[in-house]
Amino acid sequence: MADFIHVSIAWPYANGDLHAGHLAGAYLPADIFARYHRLKGNHVLMVSGSDAHGTPITVEADRLGVPPNVVFEHYHRRFLETQKQIGISYDLFTHTDTENHHRVAQDIFLKLLNDGKLFRATQRLLYSETEQRFLPDRYVEGTCPRCGYTQARGDQCDNCGALLDATELINPRSKIDGSTPVIRETEHYFFDLPAFSERLLEYLSTGKEHWRPSVLNVSKNKARDLLPRPITRDITWGIPVPLEGWENKRLYVWFEAVMGYLTASIEWARNTGQPDAWKRWWYNPDARIYNFIGKDNIEFHTIIWPAELMGIDGLYADEDDGPISLPYDVPANEFMNIEGEQFSKSRNWAVWVPDILERYDPDAIRYYIAVTMPETRDSDWSWEGFVTRNNTELLAAWGNLVNRVLKFAARHFDGRVPEPGTLRDIDRQIIAQVEGGFERVGSLIEAVKLRDALAETMALAREVNGYLDRAPWFKVIKDDRQAAATTIYTALRCIDNLKMLFAPFLPFSSQRVHEYLGYEGRLFGEQRIEVFEETTRSHPALTYDASDAIGRWEPSALPPGQALRDGEALFRKLEPELIEAERARLGQPREAETLPGRG
Ligand code: MF3
Ligand code: ZN
Repeated sequence: MADFIHVSIAWPYANGDLHAGHLAGAYLPADIFARYHRLKGNHVLMVSGSDAHGTPITVEADRLGVPPNVVFEHYHRRFLETQKQIGISYDLFTHTDTENHHRVAQDIFLKLLNDGKLFRATQRLLYSETEQRFLPDRYVEGTCPRCGYTQARGDQCDNCGALLDATELINPRSKIDGSTPVIRETEHYFFDLPAFSERLLEYLSTGKEHWRPSVLNVSKNKARDLLPRPITRDITWGIPVPLEGWENKRLYVWFEAVMGYLTASIEWARNTGQPDAWKRWWYNPDARIYNFIGKDNIEFHTIIWPAELMGIDGLYADEDDGPISLPYDVPANEFMNIEGEQFSKSRNWAVWVPDILERYDPDAIRYYIAVTMPETRDSDWSWEGFVTRNNTELLAAWGNLVNRVLKFAARHFDGRVPEPGTLRDIDRQIIAQVEGGFERVGSLIEAVKLRDALAETMALAREVNGYLDRAPWFKVIKDDRQAAATTIYTALRCIDNLKMLFAPFLPFSSQRVHEYLGYEGRLFGEQRIEVFEETTRSHPALTYDASDAIGRWEPSALPPGQALRDGEALFRKLEPELIEAERARLGQPREAETLPGRG
């Protein structure tokens, strides 16, 4: 029976382009996982979107001197293009400024309020008299009360690492105009997290053996020590608080962004004309929800969002629905550094995905990120590693296997899959070994051990190369054509199965292998950038149309006689010279960067 699998990815702040860290941390693992489950025939719903709100957006807007929506719209559009090109196959990639997201977020706020899970309290915050507004933490700088560092931020000191309350700063000043803010009282709503403490601990202690230990530990520690959290802010960019007298305040970005997993599911259902379809994941006890995120976001996904879900159980539900689905797994990844140093936007120490897509094939990028995925510890993007692994693994072990066998078949067997003689032991063995990959690689993917899953697949490709070293083909083609035919048939059949095993990782090249082998049709559905007037406020969204996808995660028996197709080499060799050229770009101003509001 098919399973219901919900794949959600942390919503990127729309204040800058996607970089390799985004891909390695959450987007690529989620996509590999979703593609696998689709090939398995499961019902996959994969959603995310641009995080339109929060100080990351307004700080960037202030820096550029444009309104926040200009920043958000600019990067939202670029996210769509970039993710389409690299093949992150969302059923829906939307954003948090849709009418739908606003409405559901406000409904959630009201439900929590009516059930007594929100309360009002007064806070003392920094207020700018020159600008006549409260200053978010990131807008304030001052001297650290712990170590004396003079440029501590309102929320944290970068020198000693202390977490700060902005009112503790000595000599605070506004980052916008340098003026000295004053302390003012202001009223806000707080989410009563302690009220969920017991249920959260129970949730985290039941059936979580499959969780990454680090994620579980962080979460349990947090759950034991919960404080109420303010969930409104004195700002104007964000979702309005749906109460009279609160017109000048907005919902806090993290409080509403996590709701996107649910709101995007609802939006997807409306777009597809089955407005209740989202319940097959959210009100189905057998459905499994996977949240792919980076390690800095763990608490929001294992504490705050589950508490919100517990608090709204039954929202929009019918009598026979429920209970609401909590995350089944939160496979958070660690970070990916660049050439041994931490990613930094301000220093431009980064690998920008739209930039590298201009120079390299999407599957070459996907391969390198997948083999270096920071599943268990921080990893490193090195340009040398990129070139080496492309040339010695992707190209040498997989691409060349495909190309040399196809070329041989084209030349000696009239461009067709040869008719084999009776299969010999060596043939049957290699076929069985590769076919065994569906089980082995599949269970690794299901356990979200994607690096191991890819390594296992590459090992099988090497086995097939080893088989070709032992089995008779090019030496015997003149005097034992039948033996050569059997070998080439066997190799092609293994390639056919390997193409499917590689497909979740390398969807573009697997599709090409599929076509070279003479098949018709698409392994996966089609990604589109579409506008849904009703739900997305005219901003485009990324979608996935699965209707003519034919790929299946199971061994296939290549038909002898099938006409093969000519094609280009599967992968390109990368020249070592590019290593220095790419390294030289790091830390330099970014070439040809388009900025919001400047075309
Ligand atoms: N926008 C946040 C970031 O880029 C992530 C939000 S995840 C969500 O770090 F679930 F809240 F959407
Ligand atoms: Zn300090």
